[in-house]
Amino acid sequence: MSKKLKHTLRLGVNIDHVATVRNARGDLHPCPVRAAKLAKKAGADGITAHLREDRRHIRDTDIFALKKDVRLPLNMEMAATKEMLKIALKVKPHAACIVPERREEITTEGGLNVVKHAKQLRRMIAELKKAKIRVSLFINADPRQVKAAEEVGADIVEFHTGALCHAKDKATYKKELEKLKKACALTKTHQLECHAGHGITYDTVEDIAKIPEIVELNIGHFLMGEAMFVGMKKSIKRMRKLMDKARA
Ligand code: PXP
Repeated sequence: MSKKLKHTLRLGVNIDHVATVRNARGDLHPCPVRAAKLAKKAGADGITAHLREDRRHIRDTDIFALKKDVRLPLNMEMAATKEMLKIALKVKPHAACIVPERREEITTEGGLNVVKHAKQLRRMIAELKKAKIRVSLFINADPRQVKAAEEVGADIVEFHTGALCHAKDKATYKKELEKLKKACALTKTHQLECHAGHGITYDTVEDIAKIPEIVELNIGHFLMGEAMFVGMKKSIKRMRKLMDKARA
């Protein structure tokens, strides 16, 4: 991205769940590319999409279309597999965010173990960077993982904010926020760009957005769910109007 950045804290909108709804009927509506274009109009700085191994939401055709038709940086979330590497090298997204993925999990439930998979990740990151794709690793707020991320050559770490956003009580929330703040501060020492995401809502975004090292938040599920309520009145009214016009 050579253009001057619009915001000091960028918003990456994750449009996976538009595809989840589309796939429920196996049709073309609602279209993730249309959602991404709308996100751009609303002020998003980037689009995030996760091409999962089981293709439960985003499909290969979506990821290519998002790159081709949406004029925003594309952050492609992917597992560290040969198949995904091959696709990423063809798509050439602005960034690739490597996430852990097990078929049975509902969403990305925890961060990558960079320490354990250092050898495999180092090789993959080198290939992605050779193709001029920025590489991000989705990790927990753990100093050992931050250090390992630098060692394997990542450009960025995205901290998993699930434990913070889903905290059941105030004490846990406070503890998780402190952990996140400390890990974010460490990114400077390790020369890593700092992102965060997962489970962020209107209730949790402000505490996270205040952390000065974070330059990008990736938010999906809450935004898509909320969009239904914000948009439902309008869509129903239009249907009502068409029905009434037909009967007039
Ligand atoms: N960042 C990463 C790396 C993710 O895997 C996800 C979930 O797909 C998100 C951000 C967005 O999380 P949520 O949908 O809970 O906002």
